[in-house]
Amino acid sequence: MPEQYKALQGFKDILPDEQPYWRLIEKTATEVASLYGFQRIETPILEDTTVFRRTSGEGTDVVEKEMYSFNDRADKEGRFQNISLRPEGTAGVVRAYLEHGMFKLPQPVKLYYMSLPMFRREKPQAGRYREHHQFGCEALGEGDPAIDAEIIGMLYQIYTRLGLSNIRVNLNSIGDSNCRPQYIELLKEYYRPLLDTCCDDCNVRYDKNPLRLLDCKNPQDQAKIANAPRITDNLCEACQEHFDTVQRFLRFYDVPFQIDKLIVRGLDYYTRTVFEFTSEIDNVALNGGGRYDGMAEIFGGSHTPGIGFGVGIERVINELKRQGIEPEPEPAPRAFVVYFVKEPAYKDAATEITAQLRKAGLKAASSYGDRSRKAQMKQANNSGADFAIIIGEDEMANGTVSVKHMKAGSTETESKQVEIKREVLLEYILNA
Ligand code: HAM
Repeated sequence: MPEQYKALQGFKDILPDEQPYWRLIEKTATEVASLYGFQRIETPILEDTTVFRRTSGEGTDVVEKEMYSFNDRADKEGRFQNISLRPEGTAGVVRAYLEHGMFKLPQPVKLYYMSLPMFRREKPQAGRYREHHQFGCEALGEGDPAIDAEIIGMLYQIYTRLGLSNIRVNLNSIGDSNCRPQYIELLKEYYRPLLDTCCDDCNVRYDKNPLRLLDCKNPQDQAKIANAPRITDNLCEACQEHFDTVQRFLRFYDVPFQIDKLIVRGLDYYTRTVFEFTSEIDNVALNGGGRYDGMAEIFGGSHTPGIGFGVGIERVINELKRQGIEPEPEPAPRAFVVYFVKEPAYKDAATEITAQLRKAGLKAASSYGDRSRKAQMKQANNSGADFAIIIGEDEMANGTVSVKHMKAGSTETESKQVEIKREVLLEYILNA
């Protein structure tokens, strides 16, 4: 197939084979989110670019290098609006919360989004796509550390229910507008004499986004990171108390967390609690999240604390596969209808019975074209159906069908074949 007709680099088709994994995650996450009082929201895939730029932050990779942004067609006055494909879910949800006056509802407002596509023009590599999908939760309008613990506990419960083990829960606090500026000064002071020996990216981060200095993966800078001052040693009293309480409450949810003082997160909007769950196999982040108490104010709203997370669904599927967790396969048909004579009356009867079963809510199939009796029986077998419903010459003459129990079994009923009147077929299958 010519290259231009293939899916774009970093984009992929989600084929039927993969769907059982998606269904498993969607069902499990929806059930658990509802236990915690979250309600579904969907926001548009396109937003004004500033929605993302102002919240995720100018100096971040997502905004600087990875957004799919373009000018929309000009309006009547010839003005363009620059719009972007959503790189992450939080900004759109906070925008919707403000736009629809959800601050007037009882707080917190707890929202979740399911399998929403996100677009980041990253360098394609294992586990990194240019289109990925997130399940995310956002709780808006409440700063109580109980919500932080609740949200992390909920996420842990989702992974446990999925059957995943060996998931590391990494937690940190990155302070707030009260204590973080002083910490950043301290960090810059520490880095200033070291800049000559730092990588180019770190030199840029030093000016644009000093907190991200701690996120550098370059081997030459690891020793500097190891000795750098830690935000957790420089929290103000209120942030410290908040962080301590989150940890105390987390124990009630039986979450085996560890403090990782180096988590800073790749988006600028975070305050106080930040967390990532990683796979013990290779440290890949399955989800990321945290507080963003200042985001609503960026949009001109009043102070509205918020906390949430985004789960990378492709990454969780990958982890499920690695841990050998298999979702329920697509159910096999209850019945497969076959006819043994290539005449219209037989095909009509098969079609009528198939339709009758489907209308009654049973999964049913029959073969297309005019296949031989042997080929149809083979199809019935391969379909995994519980019953083959056979219309042969005798059955046609008698107004009956033969029902063959396909699942080989030891009991008499399981291996038998019976001839019954057409009128009682549905009842027979429903009660079998
Ligand atoms: P994030 O850490 O940028 O946070 O993304 C969340 C998760 O999405 C990551 O942990 C990862 O599993 C997955 N992910 C991110 N980029 C890719 C990619 N290129 N390919 C595959 N998976 C990817 C956020 O997006 C925040 N909005 C999360 C949040 C919600 N914070 C508060 N509320």
